[in-house]
Amino acid sequence: MSEGWRDRWVGTQVLRIWFAGPMSVQINPSILSADFARLAEEAKAVEGADWLHVDVMDSHFVPNLTLGVPVVESLSRATQTPLDCHLMIEDPDRWAPAYVEAGAGSVTFHVEAAAAPVRLAREIRAKGARASMALRPATPVEPYEDLLPELDMLLIMTVEPGFGGQAFLDIMLPKIRRTRALIDRYGLDMWLQVDGGVSAETIERCAEAGADVFVAGSAVYGTDDPAAAVRALREQAAAAAVEVPR
Ligand code: DX5
Ligand code: ZN
Repeated sequence: MSEGWRDRWVGTQVLRIWFAGPMSVQINPSILSADFARLAEEAKAVEGADWLHVDVMDSHFVPNLTLGVPVVESLSRATQTPLDCHLMIEDPDRWAPAYVEAGAGSVTFHVEAAAAPVRLAREIRAKGARASMALRPATPVEPYEDLLPELDMLLIMTVEPGFGGQAFLDIMLPKIRRTRALIDRYGLDMWLQVDGGVSAETIERCAEAGADVFVAGSAVYGTDDPAAAVRALREQAAAAAVEVPR
């Protein structure tokens, strides 16, 4: 796919948009599917990945408990790969800044749990990390359209958050498409991440719909060669990705 004019559906109308070339894609393995007793080695096993996805769960926002600030601090010293912390916790307004201080390069909070998402995104950015907001499957993007310029990434959950290894929710594809259209319409410099059930079977659908950052847990750590799985997923996503509008 090369540069040129393309017709793109935005809401109910077709717009002519100039496309500058293929979109760059990123693969973020989720250590939720790794061996928690060997986290440093498991992080090294995917050093070709763009980010390491770290799922923080508090057994309140989701019915599962994983890890917290001290583990993130140790992990950030154990790997060169930047950490993409996904906070599935209550009261992220209170706890998220500590994850930036612990070394996370990107911090994602859930909008359903945040009391003041704009203030929180600004605080995360001011502390030096990328600010990202996540939407559970039942949370629509449209009410948050005006907040998008405050964010470096939007995460669309493609399973109910809480556990790895769940089946991908195809019904999220229209939301991914609508979010990509919003990003293009406003010319925003932000990434669109998908998380949950992303695998060799589903990654192309996500890329075609407009996602450009792909979290994969079991599809990476459930294989004998996690680094090879990352490379294969990246090739698949890049081949299916839409082009970048200018
Ligand atoms: C689920 C987590 C995901 C999880 C994805 O709540 O946010 O990051 O690790 O695992 P897979 O890729 O196995 O669905
Ligand atoms: Zn996650």
